[in-house]
Amino acid sequence: MNQNEAPFWEALTAYARVGVLPFHTPGHKLRPGAFARLGEVLGEGLFALDPSDMVEAPELDHDFLKALAQAEELAAELFGARRSLFLVNGTTGGLHYLLMPVKGSVLIPRFSHQAVYSALVLAQGRAVYLPAAFDSQWLIPLPPAVEEVAQALAREQPEALVLTHPTYYGTVSSLAELAQLAKRYGTLLFVDEAHGGHFRFSPALPATGLECGADAVVQSTHKTLGALTQSSMLHCNNDFWYAKVVQARQVLQTTSPSLVLLAVLDEVRRVLALQGRELVERAVELGRRCARELAALPNVEVVPEHLNADPTRIVFSLRELGLTGKEVERILRVDYNIQVELSDYYHVLALISVGDTPESAARLVQAVGDVVARRAHLGREPLPRYKVEFPDLPPAALSLREGFFQDKEEIPLAEAAGRISGGFLTPYPPGVPLIVPGEVFTPEIVEYALWCAGLGWSLRGMAAEQKVLVLKENGSLCRTYGKENLVCARDCS
Ligand SMILES: Cc1ncc(COP(=O)(O)O)c(C=O)c1O
Repeated sequence: MNQNEAPFWEALTAYARVGVLPFHTPGHKLRPGAFARLGEVLGEGLFALDPSDMVEAPELDHDFLKALAQAEELAAELFGARRSLFLVNGTTGGLHYLLMPVKGSVLIPRFSHQAVYSALVLAQGRAVYLPAAFDSQWLIPLPPAVEEVAQALAREQPEALVLTHPTYYGTVSSLAELAQLAKRYGTLLFVDEAHGGHFRFSPALPATGLECGADAVVQSTHKTLGALTQSSMLHCNNDFWYAKVVQARQVLQTTSPSLVLLAVLDEVRRVLALQGRELVERAVELGRRCARELAALPNVEVVPEHLNADPTRIVFSLRELGLTGKEVERILRVDYNIQVELSDYYHVLALISVGDTPESAARLVQAVGDVVARRAHLGREPLPRYKVEFPDLPPAALSLREGFFQDKEEIPLAEAAGRISGGFLTPYPPGVPLIVPGEVFTPEIVEYALWCAGLGWSLRGMAAEQKVLVLKENGSLCRTYGKENLVCARDCS
């Protein structure tokens, strides 16, 4: 195949060039018209490339459906897959298509992203968790150990295992070994590779999920490789499952996918095929240099390589200066006009990608150096290094799916013990859900969450006034639990 062609991009731009008089959707009729400000900022070109349907016009060489199929074949070849799909609802959409058809149980690390959890709300089987372990110094979730996964596979015989490669912090598991294990147990292996699309292009980066033997992976091409936000790719090496994925997509995807997003995916693939290695290796080098320079600054700590396998993700902390990650994020934004990807109590995560330049990386280093110099003389105490005793997984009264769709109400966290959770509650660090829908608040979970809140750690899922979502006491879900110290909050008589 000719990787220097971008059939979908070429078909769409050709359609725009011909200037067909459109009596079809969308209503903007391929020009900004009355919406002048949109035209000024977005340009005429964006509208011209935005017909809402796969117009079939083979005589004009604009057979969009055929061109899309060719574009996806080219992507499959580049990423080492049998089949690829372009996605317009991000990696979230791809994970939904992969997991919706699963009937049996699905094994996932507890720290999985909310997109995996929402996919499990759609799946027919129940979720089984590999409990969270994290590095005690950095409070970063660790990948599941091979032995632990082997035991869970033997015990649960799940239909699918979903691993995250890499995690938000750049951590990876022994994926090739885990893929072999999954095969041995007849378990499908799907990889959430939202942050790993660039792995294919540099030997300095970990092997990709497909290279390790996964059945399918989903990559946010928009996160690390330059496509427009929302655009991802699903790569599949299992024909049997691919047919199911296509069916799930029929159910879940809009019937009007943005052709601009699809065309940009195609053109990004073409450029990566020609220059991917050069571009990604440049980003890797830039990331390495940036991390080295940050680590050389006094009181700046950079997460080491054994925890972060991806040099383009720079996780650092100014905790020695008494600054929380959230504070550093705010200072960088307000005083230096720099926005990082993520922060929590200890960490800041800055991403370097194919879109960066030596100048942009140098600006970050300079800004952090400046913050360090400004703060050093204020003499703030280092942040305390808390020892985290993460509570055990709570008992599940209902499956994730059942718990998700019940009637819910907000109550104070302090009164939640014994109630069934209607939502997720996730403290950062370490970014692992304490509880998910359908599980029962234990006194330990309530106590731990209150402790995190007291430290000012962000708790995603907690509403104002320390309230949490629980299922309404409508009587039909009343249960008691075996755990001694757990009392049912309802009248179970
Ligand atoms: C690990 C992980 N998986 C999945 C997703 C969802 O990806 P998308 O935004 O492309 O839907 C994200 C998004 O941040 C993520 O971090």
